Amino acid sequence: MKNRIKELLDDVNQLAASNQEDLEALRIKYLSKKGLISELFTDFKNVANEEKREVGQLLNELKNAAQSKINDLKDSFNQSDKNEQHSDLTRTADPVLLGSRHPLSLVKHQIIDIFSRIGFTIAEGPEIEDDWHVFGALNFPPEHPARDMQDTFFIEQNPDIVLRTHTSSVQTRVMTTQKPPIRMIFPGRVYRNEAISYRAHCFFHQVEGLYIDKDVSFADLKQALMYFAKEMFGEHTQIRLRPSYFPFTEPSAEMDISCNICGGEGCPFCKYTGWVEILGCGMVDPAVLENCGIDSKIYSGYAFGMGVERITNLKYQVKDLRMFSENDIRFLKQFESAH
Ligand code: PHE
Repeated sequence: MKNRIKELLDDVNQLAASNQEDLEALRIKYLSKKGLISELFTDFKNVANEEKREVGQLLNELKNAAQSKINDLKDSFNQSDKNEQHSDLTRTADPVLLGSRHPLSLVKHQIIDIFSRIGFTIAEGPEIEDDWHVFGALNFPPEHPARDMQDTFFIEQNPDIVLRTHTSSVQTRVMTTQKPPIRMIFPGRVYRNEAISYRAHCFFHQVEGLYIDKDVSFADLKQALMYFAKEMFGEHTQIRLRPSYFPFTEPSAEMDISCNICGGEGCPFCKYTGWVEILGCGMVDPAVLENCGIDSKIYSGYAFGMGVERITNLKYQVKDLRMFSENDIRFLKQFESAH
């Protein structure tokens, strides 16, 4: 009997419970009417008289130890319950989780906003396009090597239908259906047959700009782009135009801005040059105007096209392009407070 009591005393001292239910089970096991300790009390009448005093004391000790251990455990639960309940009294009882805007939408809307302040309106066009709108009208004749600049997805049954590789196809749509003056931007998704990696994806987003009127000059283009760069990246931002080539603009240029991550000092993002490329642009080639039924002797125009992912990276430094299309809530939640 004495050994049994000591055994139970050891057990009782080591009791642990991780929740209220476990604790209740322990209470029943040791302290209820049919519990282990009551059993010992029942057996107590069989203890020899000369041992009764000592065993009785031990038994009482065991019972008290069990009772206080269970009480202690109960208290510790109550305590943590209280902490939880009262940690923030202002919390909504039944919170409704709000979604957040996707970073690409945020930036797209910023771009739209900036250009709409200087009179640009918006148009959209189809993502599945015919060859003429994407290439033909824009001075990419069949077999022209410039078509290799953009790896194209073709629709198998009909090679004349492609997934547009750039939003310049919306230029074609607008110029063939509207009369100048045209001052518009075209946001949209484009597709290129590229291996997916942290720096390339088979689809991405562009915003195209087009302005056609009488006497539009390269100086107008430069001014509009400078305004955009400063609005988007801050008053201190500088731009630089480098000569480039696109079949549908002449002359053509690529625009860099002073790296807004290092302020032009040089960092890994700008490959220590202090400049990052953000868009392609140029004066609409007169042949393109003519292809679309606009008299190039009366009208001239400029066009530009930028990648929304690239601009977003510059603003938010997202290191892996794939994050934009994976819908990982931990990534998206970080943009909750942005507008
Ligand atoms: N469409 C070109 C591209 O995707 C960008 C561009 C648009 C260049 C308009 C000049 C004028 O690379």
